[in-house]
Amino acid sequence: MNTPKFGPLSGVRVVFSAIEIAGPFSAQTLAEWGAEVIWIEHSKYADTIRVQPNYKELSRRNLYALSLNIFSDEGKEVFYELIKTADIFIEASKGPAFANKGITDEILWSYKKDLVIAHLSGFGQFGDSYYTNLAAYNTIAQAFSGYLIQNGDINQPMPAFPYTADYMAGLSVAASSLAALHKAKESGVGESIDVCMYEVMLRAGQYYMMDYLNGGEMCPRMIKGKDPLYAGCGLYTCKDGYIVFEVVGGYQVKEIFTELGIGELIGSDEYPEGTQLISRKTSKAALFEEKLDEYFKKLSVKEALDYLASKKIAGAKVLEVSELQSNPQYIARQSFIEWEKEDGTKVKGPNVMPRFKINPAKVWRAMPKYGKDTKDILLSLGLSEGKIEELASKQIINCG
Ligand code: COA
Repeated sequence: MNTPKFGPLSGVRVVFSAIEIAGPFSAQTLAEWGAEVIWIEHSKYADTIRVQPNYKELSRRNLYALSLNIFSDEGKEVFYELIKTADIFIEASKGPAFANKGITDEILWSYKKDLVIAHLSGFGQFGDSYYTNLAAYNTIAQAFSGYLIQNGDINQPMPAFPYTADYMAGLSVAASSLAALHKAKESGVGESIDVCMYEVMLRAGQYYMMDYLNGGEMCPRMIKGKDPLYAGCGLYTCKDGYIVFEVVGGYQVKEIFTELGIGELIGSDEYPEGTQLISRKTSKAALFEEKLDEYFKKLSVKEALDYLASKKIAGAKVLEVSELQSNPQYIARQSFIEWEKEDGTKVKGPNVMPRFKINPAKVWRAMPKYGKDTKDILLSLGLSEGKIEELASKQIINCG
């Protein structure tokens, strides 16, 4: 194992057991930030992500692949040896699955006192047992959290795609693991983190919910991509495409009202000088929207964006995915990169995120094939070649 030293997490070792997007996204992000990250797959079958033709290359870059039956008696012994070398262990499963199968936090801490353990699940490690043991994916977390019902159009709720809850949950695991690692380094005592996907999405959907919880008023869903609370915010149509903008701020509101020929409204009782947002509940909100639609449908996207920028109103073209790579900002920041797959051919995808100035993150390793690093990892833990062969013959491990 010759992980290069780079990034803010150089020297940190992370082990994870998770499939698909959410758990792996957290661990793989840490791998881009310099951590040495070992991806555990079952010894009899691979992570389901391997059926994906291209996404797997992005979501499993910079990782080491170990295939191990964690819950068999002999597998547990190997797993505990590995845990002794880890700073962070991340697992995603149906609630308290690890504890139910005999691998409790306390057992893990008996091997590594300052281990940070992050459990990711749909419904949490504790609570109503009907829920805690259930399987969950993106849409389930969105539906159960009140997030899904707020999205879509006035006529129909829609999940936010692609797989928003998985990425939100993954980032939550990464952030909380690093917070806990900071404390564990200081105190010498580990932590166990219970990241529950529906609670992550509850926080993501919190904005409008506060008015319901504190007064019973529930915000309606969007109408044709426009903000349900404030006029002048959301999706608009130009001659040659869609744009979005947000009329927010005293200067911005006054300027656009003047441009639309309704400047005299600013300074009235309803819209005093300095009005920063136009609530849809106010009497002239519909007139404002009508004028905006009329004004922007006569402009090209470029003319519209030039006008908005000149008045410091945040706006953007709704880009097609096919337009991203040729956009000058994407080119200047190298927002897409190419890297080499194991077979030597190239794959293209998003660059590392965010950008660390002093200790940059990077892509240094292709997605490893199933079981590729099993032998090297076990040798580094002190297992003999003979023991490795024996475990492989019993399918406790798989060397690919
Ligand atoms: N060694 C031994 N057993 C392993 C193993 C390993 N390396 N990896 C997984 N297993 C076991 C699991 O414990 C599970 O056993 P069980 O059925 O007795 O509980 C079984 O293999 C299946 O694994 P699992 O990955 O849980 O698959 P699943 O199809 O039952 O459920 C999820 C998949 C993702 C729905 C579920 O794990 C889950 O809800 N995870 C939490 C939320 C999440 O991450 N969702 C996905 C977001 S993209």
